[in-house]
Amino acid sequence: MSFNDDLHSLTLSEDGSYTAYSKEYDEHYHSTRDGALHESLVKHVVPGYLHVENKLEVNILDICYGLGFNTLATVLYYKKYVPQLKVNIYSPELDASLVKSLVNFEYPAEFEVLREMIETLSTKGIYKDKNFYIELFLGDAREYIKRFEDKFDIVYQDAFSPSTNPILWTKEYFRDIANAMKKEGVLTTYSIAFKTRMALYENGFHIYLNTGEGYRDATIASQIQLLNVVSVDMEHKISCNPHMLSLRDKDIIKQEI
Ligand SMILES: C[S@@+](CC[C@H](N)C(=O)[O-])C[C@H]1O[C@@H](n2cnc3c(N)ncnc32)[C@H](O)[C@@H]1O
Repeated sequence: MSFNDDLHSLTLSEDGSYTAYSKEYDEHYHSTRDGALHESLVKHVVPGYLHVENKLEVNILDICYGLGFNTLATVLYYKKYVPQLKVNIYSPELDASLVKSLVNFEYPAEFEVLREMIETLSTKGIYKDKNFYIELFLGDAREYIKRFEDKFDIVYQDAFSPSTNPILWTKEYFRDIANAMKKEGVLTTYSIAFKTRMALYENGFHIYLNTGEGYRDATIASQIQLLNVVSVDMEHKISCNPHMLSLRDKDIIKQEI
């Protein structure tokens, strides 16, 4: 059975890994230019890992599971660099049929060693071994995140874009994310939109630039000050854009009626 269906089609991305295109959201699951696997590593897995290096156990919230690249790349990376670490990954995903279809997805060769994990997650939604606990929640991320308080060391904010899926980028959404995170936790996202950074900033996050060769700029955010990362001067940006507001739930709900 092929992964292509009425709502999704396979797309080859620049690093040679396949991503998918969502006909429903009219958007790719990853940046085709940065490459699906590469994007996952440089925008989420590595910057997240750098801020939790000395822990014995790490809790990660992966918003949203999608094709599972962020979760699977995390497992590969941590297995290689910190094989003794206990890692718990929690990942909501609205599209249950997508998750089911992932047994047929053409993952990069690097993921071949995770075949059993991929199949177990796709069919049972939960995976456990000595080092990894992975739980998928098939439903709305907005509801799911309310279950947690002071829990997450790392949050991968990887929803479809703010213009396509605004409900996962509002000030109220990031308030619940902040509440679900530990104070010293870090959030990673590909979005560098002012509105995204503003919604984080209004919830007490410091904003940092994730920049490097071979990928487009991204954002890191934390409720504590981080060292060795380029800080974004939000006060200056706000003074240059005094009328620009963060997204708010009420505006989106109004639009949807
Ligand atoms: C950009 S993709 C995630 C890519 C994923 N991180 C990966 O590495 O493959 C966004 C995902 O969000 C899911 N989604 C959209 N709205 C959602 C919601 N309210 N709750 C949970 N998942 C949602 C979509 O079905 C889609 O799979």
